[in-house]
Order: sequence, then C-alpha cells, then structure tokens
Amino acid sequence: MKFFVDTADIKEIEELIPTGFVDGVTTNPSLIAKNGDDMAKTIKAICSIVPGPVSAEVTATDFDTMLQEGEYLASLAKNVAVKVPLTPNGLKTCKTLREKNIMVNVTLCFTAAQALLAAKAGASFISPFVGRLDDLGENGMDLIEDIVDIFDNYDFDTEVLVASIRSTQHVIDAAVIGAHVSTLPPKVIHELYNHPLTEKGLNAFLEDWKKTGQSILPK
Ligand code: G3P
Repeated sequence: MKFFVDTADIKEIEELIPTGFVDGVTTNPSLIAKNGDDMAKTIKAICSIVPGPVSAEVTATDFDTMLQEGEYLASLAKNVAVKVPLTPNGLKTCKTLREKNIMVNVTLCFTAAQALLAAKAGASFISPFVGRLDDLGENGMDLIEDIVDIFDNYDFDTEVLVASIRSTQHVIDAAVIGAHVSTLPPKVIHELYNHPLTEKGLNAFLEDWKKTGQSILPK
C-alpha cells in the first residue's frame, strides 16, 4: 500500500520525507486555504521535494474552465495529479485530461456507482472519503470493499485512494481490503508507529541493558 500525505503544509511534508514513507501528497482547496500560501507556489514547492503524485484540485465547476485549470495545474510539474470532483463535468474533464496523458484523481466519492463512473472515465485515482461516511453513521470501509471488488472484476487500472482517513484503524482496514493508496493526515502517520507495549518493552530492554554495563560498539 502506498502512503500519501494529506496536507498542503510544506513543513509537515519536509518533516515526513526522511521517514521514507511519503509516496505522494494530496491537497484540496480547504488544505490550500488552511496553509495560507499561493496555490501554484505551494504545488510547485511540494512537487520539487516529492517525486510521487501530488494532487492539486480544480475549483471551477463548468467543463471549459475546469479543463483550463486542470491543464494549468498539470503544467506546474510533471508529477501533478489533477483533482476533479465527482460531477458530470468533473468526469468529462477527467476523460479529456487522461487523453492528454495527465494524471487525474477523482475526488468526493461516496458510492461504488460513482467510483465505477470514475474508472470508466479513465481516472488514475478514485478518492472515496471514509471518515465523512463514518460521520454520517455509515461504515466507510464497506464502500472501499465494494470498490476494490468491482475494480478487480473488470481489471480497471484506477487506483483506490482511501481519503478522509481519521485513524490508524482506517489504514489497517484499507490495507486488509487491498486498497492501493491511503492518504493520511500527518498526525495519523505519526500514530502508526505507536503501541504502548512497544514503548514499555523498549524501556525494559534498556533498563536491563544498563545493568550489564556493556556497550555494543567497542570502546
Ligand atoms: O483529501 C481529502 C480528504 O482526505 C479530506 O478529509 O478529514 O476533511 O474528511 P476530511
């Protein structure tokens, strides 16, 4: 499973790169607004330090402007994946951009039917939002299971990019199902390392080691 970081904060990305776990980045208009910097500048900066796909989202809703925005975003760097919403115009834009060999991430997916349309439109990634479905009392992971099954049935190349992840359990569940990518808020990436027994066990090993008076490296 690939890990993307769900942030437009360049400092957060820079901190995570040395972990070796950053395979790509996803942004959206809310994350760009939160970051507070110019969008083109932000996307270029992220693309210069992350070699994998970096999603940058269009904000127009009509086809012509969506397409223009998508082409402009794709011109910022080779690894931009243009993000379009799951609307009729978004899917038309997806198809046209894919014909020009531009990566496309179709976002705001909440049903398997929508995911099927995105795959048929040639999307590189489909982004189902699991956390927002959980918020409504549904089980977001049921949707991931359905989409992975459907894509397997027809050998679609579209990668299932699990978005709106809120917890380490979401990551585990998505991996068990076999989703291709999880996009994680930096906080969740840090939480993946943690277990109280790891910390407790390490402390005990270190205490016992100290008692031996030894050092591994020759003095
Ligand atoms: O990238 C979009 C998605 O991950 C948003 O997550 O937490 O705002 O539902 P959230």
